[in-house]
Amino acid sequence: MTHRTLVSASILDCDLADLARESMRALDGGADRIHLDVMDGHFVPNISFGAPIIKNLRRIGNRPFDAHLMISEPGRYMDQFIDAGCDSITIHVEVEEPIEPTLLKVRKAGRLAGLAIKPATPLSALDPYRDLLDIVMVMTVEPGFGGQTFMDEGAAKIGPARGVFRDRPGERPSRREVHVDGGVNRDSAAVCGAYGADVLVVGSTLWRKGHDISEEIRAIKALADEANERSMNLVKE
Ligand code: DX5
Ligand code: ZN
Repeated sequence: MTHRTLVSASILDCDLADLARESMRALDGGADRIHLDVMDGHFVPNISFGAPIIKNLRRIGNRPFDAHLMISEPGRYMDQFIDAGCDSITIHVEVEEPIEPTLLKVRKAGRLAGLAIKPATPLSALDPYRDLLDIVMVMTVEPGFGGQTFMDEGAAKIGPARGVFRDRPGERPSRREVHVDGGVNRDSAAVCGAYGADVLVVGSTLWRKGHDISEEIRAIKALADEANERSMNLVKE
């Protein structure tokens, strides 16, 4: 069964002592990508892992790696994340340093470049970067921790996020992916699908005791796809 909605599995809450095995479990269970949450204890009040761990995780083979950098100085470390083999690299629009050179560097390296926005940040914050983005990542929790509750305040931006993308003449066309990150599970998947999200980041629900990874992913994709189809039909009517 092919689905419109893709799932990027966040391994933040998996058994971190066995990242390679856990990542393979997610991919074998139907995840399309691995979502890698990098936290520096400064941009967010939590510390996770960095580029060396991602590079080592490449041992699992050539599977799509989506990096989500919740760090204050992405520009300083970007070469490391490119070298680690990340296929897409998303940084936060709220960082207090120049963003454009970092996005350009990611694109020049042939990777997808993304900007994430916190729930309270307006989409207009992305305006200066519209023609440099492959990914807009709409956060539906305050970044920093897995297992939080989906926030509708963020979700309202999923639909309008599609309008952010623009191509820059002479540059590779944008991939135009809207990602939703935070609190995505069976309860919130339909909202994401109805708003037209392309990639759902799914974390803690995959690793919860008693949950079957492939069952969760299958259900989440189906709920999102169905809601998307319904909303498309409503638009047509
Ligand atoms: C939060 C992270 C998310 C999170 C997803 O800061 O960016 O990727 O780990 O996990 P759940 O699905 O548990 O919200
Ligand atoms: Zn994330």
